[in-house]
Amino acid sequence: MDQRAWERVPIEAQSVDAPLSRAAVFLVLEVREGEAALAQIREVLGAVGDLVKNVGFRDLGGRLSCVVGIGAELWDRLSPGARPAELHPFTPIRGPVHSAPSTPGDLLFHLRAEREDMTFELERQLLDQIGDAARVIDETVGFRYFDARDLLGFVDGTANPVGAELPEAALIADGDFAGGSYVVVQKYVHDMAGWAALSTERQEAIMGRTKLDNIELDDDGAPQLSHKSLATIEDETGGELAILRDNMPFGRPGAGEFGTYFIGYAGRLWVIEQMLERMFVGVPEGAYDRLLDFSTALTGSTFFVPTVAMLEALAEPPAAAAQPPADSSLGIGSLRD
Ligand code: HEM
Repeated sequence: MDQRAWERVPIEAQSVDAPLSRAAVFLVLEVREGEAALAQIREVLGAVGDLVKNVGFRDLGGRLSCVVGIGAELWDRLSPGARPAELHPFTPIRGPVHSAPSTPGDLLFHLRAEREDMTFELERQLLDQIGDAARVIDETVGFRYFDARDLLGFVDGTANPVGAELPEAALIADGDFAGGSYVVVQKYVHDMAGWAALSTERQEAIMGRTKLDNIELDDDGAPQLSHKSLATIEDETGGELAILRDNMPFGRPGAGEFGTYFIGYAGRLWVIEQMLERMFVGVPEGAYDRLLDFSTALTGSTFFVPTVAMLEALAEPPAAAAQPPADSSLGIGSLRD
């Protein structure tokens, strides 16, 4: 097969496994009350695939992709009665020193491309179609920083699953929602001066990797586990339960803003929740992730990522609810059923 076959078509919407990109936009929206807003959102959900093609086809090498996530409350409005098993709003965590807040979010758009103009243009067209059916809660524009480093200077994303491990970690394996995914986002801002005041050795101990060449450090059984170890979850047989991360740096040096936008996809939401619990509460309790002394979570929201087929089904209003019988006295409704 032609090695450049991927270039023939834009990347399909909902490709959780789209390649890590140079540019990204994270857009979190809250949908307004009422049926009119909901109908508009259904239309947009049905149009996302075409919008990605509209913009993506203009430069296939730009590898534009778009993943839409749906929050628990909006899910119940769109599809009453059948909620993905683990979907619920982000559970806030209060650690001994730091907290992870839960913030509103009905829709997440995760846009990725090799070119910032492409993510910009897709975001513009999406918001144009959404109109006043939703309001923007947060818009973060991320960029790839040198060799995939976060703004704290460490290479971020190395332990991501690859090959067959990727869908295993990121997608729901079975049931009605198989092929979908859960996604958690958190916007962190860093205390850059505080971090810079630490020695490189101390920074490395906090992260669990060397800074220059990204080599993993062993802290098994140490009283203070590194970020890498706190974020490692194992099943009962000792196998690692991975998640798929695509964190992006963002910032405005002129405003003193320096951050990391955390985004994690998983087929089992509880894996991400357990990582957060270990980071904020600590293992043992109190020995929390020292990365948090220099990183403050401003937001926290959880979404379900439907497959393309599920997205298309959501675009259609539920038949029974949308079409009351024209004249129920004739019993036409029951014939329709
Ligand atoms: C590993 C940075 C938040 C989960 C790492 C690594 C870095 C890093 C530099 C080591 C390299 C790598 O494997 O990617 C950050 C920063 C964060 C942040 C700057 C925010 C300020 C989080 C959160 C979670 C998380 C909130 C999960 C809820 C993980 C996981 C690993 C990891 C699973 C891989 C652990 C392993 O080696 O198996 N992170 N991270 N991170 N992080 Fe984070």
